[in-house]
Amino acid sequence: HVSDVSLASLELGPYRHFMQKEIHEQPRAIADTIEAVMDNNAFSAELFGAGAEAVLCDIEAVQILACGTSYYAGLTARYWIEAITGLPCAVDIASEYRYRSVVANPKQLVVTISQSGETLDTMEALKYAKSFGQDRTLSICNVPESAIPRASRLVYYTRAGAEIGVASTKAFTTQLVALFTLTCTLAKLRGRLDATQEARYLEDLRQLPGSVQHALNLEPQIVSWSERFAPKQHALFLGRGVHYPIALEGALKLKEISYIHAEAYPAGELKHGPLALVDSDMPVVVIAPNDSLLEKVKSNIQEVRARGGEMFVFADADSQFGESEQVHVIRTPRHVGVLSPIVHAIPVQLLAYHAALARGTDVDKPRNLAKSVTVE
Ligand code: AGP
Repeated sequence: HVSDVSLASLELGPYRHFMQKEIHEQPRAIADTIEAVMDNNAFSAELFGAGAEAVLCDIEAVQILACGTSYYAGLTARYWIEAITGLPCAVDIASEYRYRSVVANPKQLVVTISQSGETLDTMEALKYAKSFGQDRTLSICNVPESAIPRASRLVYYTRAGAEIGVASTKAFTTQLVALFTLTCTLAKLRGRLDATQEARYLEDLRQLPGSVQHALNLEPQIVSWSERFAPKQHALFLGRGVHYPIALEGALKLKEISYIHAEAYPAGELKHGPLALVDSDMPVVVIAPNDSLLEKVKSNIQEVRARGGEMFVFADADSQFGESEQVHVIRTPRHVGVLSPIVHAIPVQLLAYHAALARGTDVDKPRNLAKSVTVE
């Protein structure tokens, strides 16, 4: 029996593709995913299942295992986890972790991130970790009762609803809010989150759906950019710090649905090689929020401009950029602080979607790809 909710997930409504619909569902998906936290008005171990406090209260490290977009969610969360909890955090591609001689640490929390909960590489990496005694396992997943949460001691379900488009969008941003909730919960259990900080982070989450909607409202400006991308064969994405994984996600979105070869680099890495790629045919997308690294990103932009590269900069409202023929800037209404990576994920999703539209590729079912990779 197909429930009404899942039936609604299978209808396109006013949208042309499931991917576009799912991009626009993100404010609601995020709100649903954090509903329990907002109702409690507190971070607590119970959010992660019965007995979670005993599992989480004395961990000494975090190991994240995932693939693809879910891996980029883990890379993003690492900045939060290390800064807010003080715990070391490793993030590994599941298919690599499986074959590495990993040093066991029973006090390590093993976090798997998977939209489908069925990705074989992630499942096998979890089994491998458990094979040498890592029994503190937690799954962040979008599909209730799928294989990976069933094999984990704790679980936090994202409530994004069915994600039909092969390219992951609302699963990514809801994974990020789940990971941020885990971060704050771990910090609180470790006495590193006082009431004032907890209240601030809860307010950041409460405001997030609205901030994501503001980013979605940038779609018309992004459509005009995407038409310039359509004829390109290559693109470079740059970001720094916690926004570097968002550059990686933007590059993945563009390549997997528009088939434009795209890669991402930490902006500071440009001069160590990638700058040789830059010419007038290589569009460079820069994620340049108003955070502590903005001035560094601006000097990276100058490096590219001096080599004749065309820049597409996603910035925040009150940042100053010398716009010109070569430097195009789209601004979000304001910098949202610690959750900025989630807001800046929206424009790169929209850029990929509209570039693919302009190229006429099969947006919801891109060639060679499957929604859930259940094979090696
Ligand atoms: C992302 O757009 C891709 N569909 C792919 O990289 C995906 O994120 C990866 O296969 C992991 O899938 P999962 O989250 O279901 O484990």
